[in-house]
Parts: sequence; structure tokens; C-alpha cells
Amino acid sequence: FSTRVGIVGAGPAGLMLAHLLDRAGIDSIVMEKRDKDTIHATHRAGILEAATVRMLTETGVDGRVLTEGHEHRGTVLRFQGESHRIDFQELVGHSVWLYPQNEVFWDLAAARERDGGDVRWSVTDTEVLGLDTERPRIRFTDAQGTPCEVRCDVLVGADGSQSICRRAIPEHARTDNFVEYPFAWFGILTQAPPSAPELIYANSEHGFALISSRSEEVQRMYFQCDPDEDVAQWDDERIWAELQRRVDGPDGLRLQRGPIFDKTVLKFRSYVCEPLRHGNLFLVGDAGHTVPPTGAKGLNLAFCDVRTLAPALVDFFRSGDDTGLAGYSAAALERVWKAQNFSYWATNLLHAQPGENPFHQKRRHGEFTAITSSARGAAYFAECYTGWPED
Ligand code: DHB
Repeated sequence: FSTRVGIVGAGPAGLMLAHLLDRAGIDSIVMEKRDKDTIHATHRAGILEAATVRMLTETGVDGRVLTEGHEHRGTVLRFQGESHRIDFQELVGHSVWLYPQNEVFWDLAAARERDGGDVRWSVTDTEVLGLDTERPRIRFTDAQGTPCEVRCDVLVGADGSQSICRRAIPEHARTDNFVEYPFAWFGILTQAPPSAPELIYANSEHGFALISSRSEEVQRMYFQCDPDEDVAQWDDERIWAELQRRVDGPDGLRLQRGPIFDKTVLKFRSYVCEPLRHGNLFLVGDAGHTVPPTGAKGLNLAFCDVRTLAPALVDFFRSGDDTGLAGYSAAALERVWKAQNFSYWATNLLHAQPGENPFHQKRRHGEFTAITSSARGAAYFAECYTGWPED
């Protein structure tokens, strides 16, 4: 069979693109190797920029983000036990929303179902072919075991950081830019009340910790750990002691404890593929670039790609105008590199480097003070965190 846009990957980026194309009357088929419940159960970040929220509410996906999400008008940066609030509204006039990415996925999947979108879950053996031709193809085996081939005009790789689409681009035709970090995050979910009204990004001599939330009953927290940390070595008591000592301070901040029901180690990586196009293949979201989780930019960046690519595809299919498609990679990359910089910078500002000496710690404290003691410094953080105005 055939379609105009073949989308590999039904995460938030792929589903949002299919949704926007559908609204413009352009058909697509989305192929996904996982099933819906597996993706829904995969915990990712929870902070949405205002522009991301608008994409959900103004395009008719679902309004749950407004009823179940929480507006955060600021955040707390904590250094050596002292909290400094960054007031987003006062500094840059924006808020962010705490609404977990797996719920964004769920809303988008429901919208595809409601609108009769073609999404093939649990496919295997996916292959993309003929990227350089007018009619690229996707081969896969569907959930019933039937081999299929979809011919399309345009292929979109929205298949995450392990993207098969990206790997189908010949090596000589792409540049892989990446750095790794000597640490990771140990992430937990706990059945407990919130410990604070806003997120706390904490740096301490024992390393970084992030206190976030999912609801009144469930909290999300992370602490910096070794990339090879084994979660089995950590019982609840040890985890709580580690988290607590990273936020300890003269104000007596106490974390609200409860049973821990999920533990995972998240690897840190920064990566950008250049360009984000090869022939008739376009990369969006993590397939084209990955950020470390510190600034919660991953999903927001993926939606920005989609916001650039969707109208370009609409122009192309409506009037044959390919100016938008020709400019997609450069336009998306400009934003990607800004977000890469912020994610890298915030990561290094807030984490302790293994083996660092007192000079590095004190320099970092100087940088931290330059941000928190100055309205201009704080506004820089606030602008990056809430999303750049031109987006
Ligand atoms: C969450 C994760 C992040 O990486 C972040 O910067 C903020 C919040 C979260 O999971 O809630």
C-alpha cells in the first residue's frame, strides 16, 4: 500500500506530526515497534514549555494537560543547601507545565484513534529503503506476522535515539556530533506527598539531585550516580538517605518519604545528527538529536521539529512548494543547538564531576551565584528553561 508520509516511530513526535498532517488533510501511516502500554509505562521527563502545551490544546489533541497538568511559574535552584527561586513569570513572563511525557503520548495516541489515524503498533523487522528516490519505502512485519511494504512520498524518522532511519543515512552523508558524561541519573517514583511546591534542582558536594512530582500522591526524584550503577544495590532506606543528604541545608528541608516503586538509571548523552535530512527522509526528535535530561528539553525540542516540518510538508503537498522542506534541517538545527547548549551548560552547572578539585567546585559556585544573584543572569536561565520567544 502507499501513503504520502510514512512515519517510523509513534512516540510524541511521530504522533503529533501525524495529527497535524491529518488536520491538513494529508494522509500518513505510523509504524511503531513497541505496543501502546509499553510506551505509556516508560517514564520520561515531565516539563512542558508553554509552546508545547499550546500545540496540544490549540490543535485539538486533548485538554487534559490543562486540567491534570500543573502550571509552574518558577523553579528552585539549590546550591550547598541554600535555595534560590527563579521566578519565570516575573523574569520572562512565561510558565512551564508539569505533565508527564507518557501522558502526552497517551493523549496523542487517543487522538489518532479518535480521528481514525493509521498507526501500526508492535511491528518488527522495520527497514527503510530508497531514501534517495522519489518513492521511498518502509518494509516491516505487522503484529499479525504479515510482511508489509509501504510506499510513500516522504519518510519521517521519529524513532528515537536508537533510530533505524538515521542509521539508514550513509555515513559519508551525515555528521554525528556527540559527547558523553561521566555520570547518570538514578530515577525513582515514590508513593508520597510532594516535598515542595516547585521543582528543586540541587547541587551539593555529594552530587546533583532533582525533586520533581507526578501528582499529589506520586513523586519523581533523581540523583546523580555512576553510569554503571546497579539499582539492585539500592534499597529504599539507602536511596532516601542519599537524596536527603543532597538537599540538606540550614532551612531544614525534609523530603517526604514513601515506598519506592520504580528505580531506573538514565544515561546521559548529547548528540546531534547533521543534517536532519537525507533525500526524502527527515529526522525529528530524538532520532536526530538527544539531550541530557537536566533542562527537560527533549520532548519540547521534538515538538519544535514537528512545528517546523508539518507546515513545510503541507506546502509541499498542497502546492508543490518545497522551500520549507529545503530549509527544514537548518531551521530545526538552529533551535537544536541552542537547546543543546542549555542542556549541556545546566548539566555542568549542577553536577559534580568525578575527581574534580576544589577549584572546579568554587568556580561552579561562582557561576551559580552569577545566575542567582542577578536578574539578568536569572532571566537567562528562565528564558532557556521556558523556551525561546521566537519558537
Ligand atoms: C523531570 C525530569 C527532568 O529531566 C527535568 O529537568 C524536570 C523534571 C521529571 O521527570 O519530572
